[in-house]
Amino acid sequence: MRKPIIAGNWKMHMTGEEAAEYGKQFAPRVKDISDVEIVIAPPYTSLGAFFREVSDTRIKLCAQNVHFEEKGAFTGEISVSMLACEGVSHIIIGHSERRSYFGETDEGVRAKIKTTLGKGLIPIMCVGETLEEREQGNTNNVIKVQIEEGLRGIEIDDPQNLIVAYEPVWAIGTGKTASPDQAQEVHAFIRGLLGTIFGKEKASGIRILYGGSVKPANVRELMEQEDIDGGLVGGASLDPTSFEKIVKFYE
Ligand code: PGA
Repeated sequence: MRKPIIAGNWKMHMTGEEAAEYGKQFAPRVKDISDVEIVIAPPYTSLGAFFREVSDTRIKLCAQNVHFEEKGAFTGEISVSMLACEGVSHIIIGHSERRSYFGETDEGVRAKIKTTLGKGLIPIMCVGETLEEREQGNTNNVIKVQIEEGLRGIEIDDPQNLIVAYEPVWAIGTGKTASPDQAQEVHAFIRGLLGTIFGKEKASGIRILYGGSVKPANVRELMEQEDIDGGLVGGASLDPTSFEKIVKFYE
């Protein structure tokens, strides 16, 4: 049984003060929810303020990025241990915005996943094709390379320690959502690839989230698909009311 996860990715939104206010409003509304894991990724500078509000709740704290080295002369970077110290348990790795605007490569993604797992934190590895790649019929090839290169040489003991997020780039922040069938098709393909890498049994326990314009109105039909185990939510997670509705789909 794969326990569903709804993860909010705030991207570059929310000061510490705003994050604390969000935590105050949101935490009581979801306090009785135990059948879905709730994960929220504030920007680095708001992690502490948000965590102080939610540390005694079931809400899990996530970072949006990390550096692959454990420490050193890397001005402006943040390590896994620094994040763990702030209460972080999950880290988004290889988001398409990092890949397209900041030159993140599959090799970099792999190094970050390795360090994250090595320190006992949970990576949320993002993959997804652009509109052009989809239109050229290249979706599966692109996903295959991202999964195989990003996970080469990676080992996991417990399948719950790795989360994959399928986020078609054309659906992120655009209001265009992949249809449930389109998403399910890619999710099943990803699970097959994970089976080749980790073995079928482990692959059947890895959670695969869908991301790209998830909102209260479309969460149900997406999450009902067999291989969709939750969502990675950007825009709609910034408002506690809409994020609450998305989380409560599972009630
Ligand atoms: P969106 O973003 O929900 O605003 O489309 C999703 C994401 O980038 O994780």
